[in-house]
Amino acid sequence: MSFIVWIGVAIIIWLLFKALNSTDVPKISGLPEAPGWPIFGSLLELGENHSLALLKMAKRLGPVFQIRMGNKRIVVANSFDSIRELWIRNQSALISRPMLHTFHTVVSSSQGFTIGTSPWDESCKRRRKAAATALNKPAVQSYMPIIDTESYSAISEIYKECQDGQVDINIIPHLLRFALNTSLMLNYGTRFSSSFDDVFKEIVEVEGAISRLRSTSNNWQDYIPLLRLFPAKSKSASSYRVRRDRYLEFLLDGLKKDIADGTDKPCITGNILKDPSAKLNEAEIRSICLTMVSAGLDTVPANIIFGIGYLSSAHGQEIQERAYQEIQEAYPNDDAWEKCLVEEQVPYVTALYKEVLRYFTVIAICLPRRSISDINYNGVIIPAGTLFYMNAFAGDYDENHYKDPYTFDPERYLADADGTPHFAYGAGSRMCAGSHLANRELFTFFIRFISAFRILAPRDPKNAAVLGAMEANKSHTALVAEPKPFKCRFEPRNKKLLESWLETSRREADDD
Ligand code: HEM
Repeated sequence: MSFIVWIGVAIIIWLLFKALNSTDVPKISGLPEAPGWPIFGSLLELGENHSLALLKMAKRLGPVFQIRMGNKRIVVANSFDSIRELWIRNQSALISRPMLHTFHTVVSSSQGFTIGTSPWDESCKRRRKAAATALNKPAVQSYMPIIDTESYSAISEIYKECQDGQVDINIIPHLLRFALNTSLMLNYGTRFSSSFDDVFKEIVEVEGAISRLRSTSNNWQDYIPLLRLFPAKSKSASSYRVRRDRYLEFLLDGLKKDIADGTDKPCITGNILKDPSAKLNEAEIRSICLTMVSAGLDTVPANIIFGIGYLSSAHGQEIQERAYQEIQEAYPNDDAWEKCLVEEQVPYVTALYKEVLRYFTVIAICLPRRSISDINYNGVIIPAGTLFYMNAFAGDYDENHYKDPYTFDPERYLADADGTPHFAYGAGSRMCAGSHLANRELFTFFIRFISAFRILAPRDPKNAAVLGAMEANKSHTALVAEPKPFKCRFEPRNKKLLESWLETSRREADDD
């Protein structure tokens, strides 16, 4: 009798173990697999910095392999060529996104999903199309007055604070405000005049926290359903949802009121709201608003901040001087400040921002994809419904593709004009829809900063920027890299000229 009981217990334990250890997609035959642990899979080995841990595994397993993260099976690509093969050559198969417990069930239950987190369906197609139209080249050109005002505003704050380059200053708050105001102006036609505004602080805090909830490494409950029984994480996630709902309502109501009063400024949501032929319902409009507010909020300033930090180093001084010379040659009449709004004609500065995007790859593990049809990868059939992670950092530091990838070198982009420059914006069918706008923002900022100031190392070496991409990131568990605080000095190159540029932009902003 007791023997039978023991057998029964053993069978139950075995079945339980099998159930807890099973994955959404069965093991893919022919593709190397990281061994991992029961229940956890590779979660323990991945630690906090998934990108570096996966890069290390790729040294053992090759560029493309499968891992288990709890009950999910994931195919990871870790080299430039394998990413190009899977994300670009197989882009129609890799068009969808997975649903993950924390983000999709807890954080997004009221405003819907952003475009970047929506699985592919008719609604996602409509929203992506509307966003793409609102972010295409002519549309972006019509937003340049916004970039003019916001970059002028950030630079004039820095000018007031810089004391002619005598003091170390922290530019992070100025650039966060620039990014948020740009997003809000684009989307709602509204802006904050001070970084100390309460709603401003609330948006920065909540969006930062939600971004942390979206990373691959911060949410074990997405992979191990048992952990959802311990709701601490879910509770904090839903409190952010409530706070986010509050300001999104406030912004949308404000715009609707402005439209009713006839005082609204041209903006994306306004255009959609006023267009009776727009085929978007209220939920889809909210999803687009959410996307636009959050998409550029941390990505654009992170690139500018990391870039400025690098430029303040000894090597950065050489790069700045070269960029300054090239700007002077392109615009001998000192009109780079204005011209950067209408054209992108300084190839070295274009190369500089591309290198900032590659070197710092601020979304090291790109937003996840889910395949909708089978993919044949070098003879291995990867079934539809599989999750895919692009280790964008690994692709952007692939020694088989880039010469000396760990060296910051804008020159690498002067010769190579075609093809995929880097994976900072992802790739293929769901690549960043805002890359053109983001590029224009980065170009304008670097042209204006370098024309206006010599960016110098801080007086106190303890304030110096960290230069390595991974080391400069203070939070590897966040979706978007967060620059470690640093300070540097800004010495105006020509105060009279800078003041006249600031005055021109101020007048333009007032006229608007
Ligand atoms: C330097 C700044 C930016 C970076 C580094 C960046 C990066 C990314 C990445 C890596 C993705 C995922 C792409 C993929 O899965 O292949 C993405 C998606 C997206 N981004 Fe950006 N982004 C930036 C700025 C912006 C801006 C300013 C906007 C719009 C205002 C924007 C709108 C979007 C949208 C709508 C998606 C979702 C695309 C989809 O799922 O179909 N991004 N971005």
